[in-house]
Amino acid sequence: MVDIVSVELGARAYQVRIGAGLLARAGAEIAPLLRRPRVAVVTDETVGALHLAALRAGLGDMEMVSLTLPAGESTKSWPHFTHTVEWLLEQKVERKDIVIAFGGGVIGDLVGFAASVLRRGVRFVQIPTTLLAQVDSSVGGKTGINAPSGKNLIGAFHQPSLVLADIDLLGTLTPRDFLAGYGEVAKYGLLGSADFFDWLETNGPALAKGDTALRQEAVRRSVQMKADIVARDETEEGDRALLNLGHTFGHALESATGYSSRLLHGEGVSIGCALAFELSQKLGLCAQEAPSRVRAHLRAMGMKTDLADIEGPLPDAEGLIALMAQDKKVLDGKLRFILARGIGEAFVTSDVPRDTLKTVLEEALGRRR
Ligand SMILES: NC(=O)c1ccc[n+]([C@@H]2O[C@H](COP(=O)([O-])OP(=O)(O)OC[C@H]3O[C@@H](n4cnc5c(N)ncnc54)[C@H](O)[C@@H]3O)[C@@H](O)[C@H]2O)c1
Repeated sequence: MVDIVSVELGARAYQVRIGAGLLARAGAEIAPLLRRPRVAVVTDETVGALHLAALRAGLGDMEMVSLTLPAGESTKSWPHFTHTVEWLLEQKVERKDIVIAFGGGVIGDLVGFAASVLRRGVRFVQIPTTLLAQVDSSVGGKTGINAPSGKNLIGAFHQPSLVLADIDLLGTLTPRDFLAGYGEVAKYGLLGSADFFDWLETNGPALAKGDTALRQEAVRRSVQMKADIVARDETEEGDRALLNLGHTFGHALESATGYSSRLLHGEGVSIGCALAFELSQKLGLCAQEAPSRVRAHLRAMGMKTDLADIEGPLPDAEGLIALMAQDKKVLDGKLRFILARGIGEAFVTSDVPRDTLKTVLEEALGRRR
């Protein structure tokens, strides 16, 4: 069965279709969007080796041209962006054609951005292949690349025309990449739905082991929450910032570890969510039990939950605060945090005393020794 979540954005509205076996029907799903039976696909080496032949078969008699880029975060950069745009032009992709982003968040962000500038904007379809991309990055239209001075600093809002989330694709992810995506799934429960977090506490372990029906339900509920928030606040003037729960800490930690395999994005989010709840509790906003419950679930799933789970050196508390100050959410020079009054009750605030933040970080650094 295919679940459909609609992202209600007026003229830019689109569907996210979620289910097993969608890749095999990609041609039929995409055909109604096409003026001519031809698509340009961009993927990465890992996804290409595992799944490009299946996508080719699923497109049926449609013509497909494809570009395969190296896998990994460093692909989200000017050189690969330029290469992609020039390749799309060489392939004579026209204004009314469709570009397909076939991969995780790296490919989705890069190709979406390339589509946004190509001939002043062509339409694109996301076929997300990681859990993170299915529940988060493929929905909502944030596209972009990293700058030498920071992550995601260059980009555009460009909504896809369709998202096809084939649950079967998650079967080839490494356990580490799967769990990194689960960090974003848990985030949805923590920011806006205690009921979903309860559900994850019960079903998370079976879902991680490979239960397809539970995976589909987790993706559907996550995408529905994201779609609702994006429809209320497409360009992040308000509510959309809630989706950044755990990210102020997470981005600082990613930066501190050089965006390397020491810490994946979703792992940073997982640790960041735990620290955001700890900070909320220290500020008297939520009960003592909340941060313990957050950590207990993430730990039970085998995820990173604390600074002690990061190998190698880290900056001191002041150094981490300085890295947080480079976050895109900084407004008028003030750090903005997503804090919580309880599980499922997050809110945005700039009102965080620096001393309390420093104490939370010092205690977390102390647990590394
Ligand atoms: N645009 C947004 O709203 C948004 C939201 C969250 C994260 N992001 C971005 O997403 C990126 C992270 O995304 P990601 O975690 O998907 O990383 P990724 O795209 O690097 O994928 C992780 C790894 O999994 C491999 N892979 C992908 N699909 C696979 C499959 N089905 N089987 C086996 N291996 C597979 C990839 O080759 C890669 O090595 C970051 O750059 C982050 O900034 C964007």
